[in-house]
Amino acid sequence: MMAIDPMQTKIIPVSLQKPDMDIINQAAQLIQSGQLVAFPTETVYGLGADAFNAGAVQTIFSVKQRPSSDPLIVHIQNIRELTSVAINIPDSALELADQYWPGPLTLILEKHPDIPLSVTAGGQTIAVRLPAHPIARLLIQQSCCPIAAPSANRFSRPSPTLAQHVFDDLDARISMIIDGGATDIGLESTVLDLTQSPPCILRPGGIILEDLKSSIPDVHMSTRYLDAQNSTHRSPGQLFKHYAPKARLLLFSGDHTDKILTAMEEQIHHLLKNNKTVGVMVTDENAAFFQNKGGTIMKLGSINDLGTVAKKLFACMRTLDSQSMNYILMKMPPEIGLGWALKDRLIRAAYEIINV
Ligand code: TXA
Ligand code: MG
Repeated sequence: MMAIDPMQTKIIPVSLQKPDMDIINQAAQLIQSGQLVAFPTETVYGLGADAFNAGAVQTIFSVKQRPSSDPLIVHIQNIRELTSVAINIPDSALELADQYWPGPLTLILEKHPDIPLSVTAGGQTIAVRLPAHPIARLLIQQSCCPIAAPSANRFSRPSPTLAQHVFDDLDARISMIIDGGATDIGLESTVLDLTQSPPCILRPGGIILEDLKSSIPDVHMSTRYLDAQNSTHRSPGQLFKHYAPKARLLLFSGDHTDKILTAMEEQIHHLLKNNKTVGVMVTDENAAFFQNKGGTIMKLGSINDLGTVAKKLFACMRTLDSQSMNYILMKMPPEIGLGWALKDRLIRAAYEIINV
């Protein structure tokens, strides 16, 4: 790992309606000189570097403490730029781009030889997306290069949906965070692999399966993470720990809501008796059930509005961490729409999945 010189980290607010171009240009100069800038996208905050600068890209991995085996997403500003980062682009990519860009869809394509291998973790494929956020787009435009950017959290921490989250994870490691307020979607983009046939969703995200199916009827979802839920001999803490709060996340799964709620109640009781602090992340509909049960309740929004749940999920984890909770309890979200993305993040963040 490269040593990081401590530097002063500035959070600089920029209006979305009338972005201050002096600040955007200052950030673009940092990118052009091989430095990193954290910036808002419509999904989560990203930690950006010039995608053609191998050294700058390597700094992303050391700053985040991310293993170099995990490839980055390259962000472009318009569809024409696609040919500078990818080759042999299939028609399906252009059709999807036409339909979903700018937006939270990342396409896996064949890598252009000019893209350094550090971006793609040594692989011959590249992840590309065209973000919808005005500040992200201005930053790419003024930097005059595609920007490689993972989520701007420390490795394995929940992704940042506020500039403050980036600061909490990366203070003294980067010089500039552009603050565009809370991100709109709150979960990362959908990663769709077009180098496989049929195309495969490697990570469910902001663009939902049901919508992609209308464009690609044979699209399917990788079960890499979702399978973890069904393996019977899972030891606690042995998952692909990712997006995780410091607290131990206990995820309750099953077919009957009333049984799940009762099991959660019993678990709260047991943990409190053992002098543990407990946070409960619940949908609005289930909040009343947990009143006066002793846990700290965080309401995520209505079960009928998974967009709001998605927007609040990572921020709620971070809030409960700031209150030093030992445990966080949550019920598994439904397998519909954004529920798949929520489920994927929660399974990866979980200390233990309890099947009721
Ligand atoms: O919404 C988002 O996607 C955010 C914003 C900042 O754009 N970015 C983001 O990046 O979530 P990151 O690095 O945290 O996640 C990128 C995901 C990882 O799961 C990585 O394994 C996958 O994309 N990925 C990147 N390149 C890939 C490739 N060539 N093949 C397969 N998966 C790839
Ligand atoms: Mg990430």
